[in-house]
Amino acid sequence: MVDVVLGGFLGDEGKGKVIEFLSKNAEIVVRCCGGSNAGHHVEINGKRYDFRLIPTAILDENITVVIGNGVVIDPKILANEIKILKNNGYSVNNLKVSEKAHIVLPYHIKMDELLEENRGQDKIGTTHCGIGPAYCDKYERAGIRMQDFISSRFEKLVKRNVENKNKIFEIYGKETEDSSAIIEEYSKYVDIIKEYVCDTVMYLSESEKAGKKILCEGSQATLLDVDFGTYPYVTSSNSTIGGVLTGTGLNHKYINEVYGVIKAYASRDGEGPFLTEEPEEIGDKIRELGHEVGTITKRPRRCGWLDLNALKYAVAVNGITALAINHLDVIGKLKRVKLCVAYKYDGIVTTKYSSNPAYLAKCTPVYEEFDGNFDDVLEADAREDLCENAQKYLDRIEEVVGVPIKFIGIGSENENILFK
Ligand code: IMO
Ligand code: MG
Repeated sequence: MVDVVLGGFLGDEGKGKVIEFLSKNAEIVVRCCGGSNAGHHVEINGKRYDFRLIPTAILDENITVVIGNGVVIDPKILANEIKILKNNGYSVNNLKVSEKAHIVLPYHIKMDELLEENRGQDKIGTTHCGIGPAYCDKYERAGIRMQDFISSRFEKLVKRNVENKNKIFEIYGKETEDSSAIIEEYSKYVDIIKEYVCDTVMYLSESEKAGKKILCEGSQATLLDVDFGTYPYVTSSNSTIGGVLTGTGLNHKYINEVYGVIKAYASRDGEGPFLTEEPEEIGDKIRELGHEVGTITKRPRRCGWLDLNALKYAVAVNGITALAINHLDVIGKLKRVKLCVAYKYDGIVTTKYSSNPAYLAKCTPVYEEFDGNFDDVLEADAREDLCENAQKYLDRIEEVVGVPIKFIGIGSENENILFK
């Protein structure tokens, strides 16, 4: 039985909270795609850490945590997360890292910065974590995998790749990379990471056949997917359901529930189309209420209303079977709340979504308005306990999208949830 948690919109929907709740019933939690561009808070001994690679389920030593083959891993960041866990008394014996996962090295980060600089006005607003260039190397078949990283091949591959990248850095007048320095520094990370690297594909395959409860932790989101998102304003991996299969080797036959996570409003960290964005006071207010600042980028996130046209697209692309909606308490602090239920395209009302930026540029949102003031949600023990305004808002989302809401986030603490 495999349950999947995916981002329903543009990232930062609070997937971590849903995963944390569902992982209580899981035996294995797997990350499938992306890399250190994702961020989630982990609380260890009362202190908050921003983890970017290791799923939070690592804190429960009964759960095996897997970083799948579809993830691009920055060894420096992974080694640091392992160190934090060990320094806090965790054995980390429950971690497995795919030997097939590709690694991110300093030249990928430098290339990410260079590409952004060259895009000028058309920049994507990446997280500067080297994600795009690392996936480029993977598809160009020049990438360095975990199995290479922990072997004697590492030196040779780094030298070859640095030589090639330096030619480009030289053209743009950038400082070049020193392969010896990379090899020296990263050999230290090999010593920390090596023991976790294994064939996770066969491990997961045997586990699913044995009936283990597996939870897949998606990162990024549907509209950031390189195929289905608002290209080119996307990340460089498949953050939709397909990426779960190719990023782990899990079999589609075993997939059970697919949770699409959304916030009760919307945000975007980075450039690209965002039809329901509120660029002025309302957006500022939502940002302030929801503490919407990028975990990695520290940028103020762009904020606005939930777009049900886009959400229906996410449902179609991923086969979402249940919705998880976070931050109901945040949006409930407003007097009036809006939901985008359609677009006006060339003067005609349509419920058609297309992730093509040229199409979206011609659309304006059609809103339905709701009474707000439903921030007393924290008192609720079940959806039925929510006040009428909150219920109307949630009912309308379900009605338009045609998928049940099974998880409602009603406060900042992990236990502030309603689930059915
Ligand atoms: P989680 O898992 C929000 C966005 C970046 C940028 C674009 C490309 O926390 O939801 P990249 O560095 O991936 O090449 O950047 O994608 N982006 C995210 N936005 N949450 C994320 O992850 C994101 N990961 C990437 O802001 O617009
Ligand atoms: Mg994020």
